[in-house]
Amino acid sequence: MTNDALTVAVLGPGGVGGLLAALLSRAGHRVVCIAGDETAGRLAADGIEVRSGHFGDFTARVEADTELREPVDVCVIAVKATALDAALERLPAKALGEEGLVVPFLNGVEHPALLRERYGSGQVAPAVIRVESTRIAPGVVEHGSPFAEVDLTAETAPRARVEAFAGALEWAGVRARVEEGESAALWAKMSFLAPFALLTTRYGVPVGDVRTLHREELAALVEETAAVGRACGAATDPATALARYDAFPAATKSSMQRDAEAGRPLELDAIGGALLRAAERTGVPVPVASELVGRLRAIAGA
Ligand SMILES: NC(=O)c1ccc[n+]([C@@H]2O[C@H](COP(=O)([O-])OP(=O)(O)OC[C@H]3O[C@@H](n4cnc5c(N)ncnc54)[C@H](OP(=O)(O)O)[C@@H]3O)[C@@H](O)[C@H]2O)c1
Repeated sequence: MTNDALTVAVLGPGGVGGLLAALLSRAGHRVVCIAGDETAGRLAADGIEVRSGHFGDFTARVEADTELREPVDVCVIAVKATALDAALERLPAKALGEEGLVVPFLNGVEHPALLRERYGSGQVAPAVIRVESTRIAPGVVEHGSPFAEVDLTAETAPRARVEAFAGALEWAGVRARVEEGESAALWAKMSFLAPFALLTTRYGVPVGDVRTLHREELAALVEETAAVGRACGAATDPATALARYDAFPAATKSSMQRDAEAGRPLELDAIGGALLRAAERTGVPVPVASELVGRLRAIAGA
């Protein structure tokens, strides 16, 4: 593993993007955050402040702009799915150049196709991240989980470049590995996330109440999601997923639930909608998920 300095752009320097930007900058990489006017101004002036039991409290200097204007080694995409279309206007393919890797960290399974259309298959290397990190103000990130773990994939992008980025993340303190299958990696995350996000948001209760008060529905939803995941190439096991829910602190809320509480747009289509579309495509029956997503769409007015 080496730590050759990279130039990394981060589109969407919030909970996930801000944390990665600050850690990479602290590790000696050049980091350019791409954000709206106000956030870019704050970041350029004050850097990114991280509050973390795991990584320590620190402030990292970053560059910031409202648009990518030069080729970079890697462009991290860490906006919410609901903001992706608008945010990509700040990332012109021409500026990115022909070698820059595009590494999206969004939850969901459908965004890679959109990115490949725009930037070409050879540059897109989707990733998943397991972390709990919240942007509490522009340029201020609270990292709550005692870990940050990334699975990168290199199905259509040059593996050596993806491995170089994994090495940079590792040096920065983030556990990072390059997985073999993209669909398997994205669905492994979806299989856990979708039931958690949909049920906590539907009932407005944390995971502890979901697993006790709504256990039957949780178990059914986990079964359905795992079946779709398996049809899409992930080795998902419902019993393992259920055991993970049982191990979570009872008060844990999903970010979809926190978005609902704050009146922000929900990543409902990227998670619930994508689950239903994949179920239809693969012929897997998902009655519980259909009912739940329908109700959530009605609640969200989506
Ligand atoms: N947070 C987590 O712990 C976590 C864990 C795993 C996966 N994820 C996934 O990671 C993705 C990002 O989530 P997040 O929680 O990091 O979101 P977030 O904290 O809301 O951050 C999103 C960032 O995107 C920026 N943004 C929004 N619209 C933009 C635009 N048009 N142009 C440029 N920047 C724009 C926001 O800017 P402002 O700062 O100016 O508002 C914000 O900095 C989601 O798909 C989420 O599901 C999150």
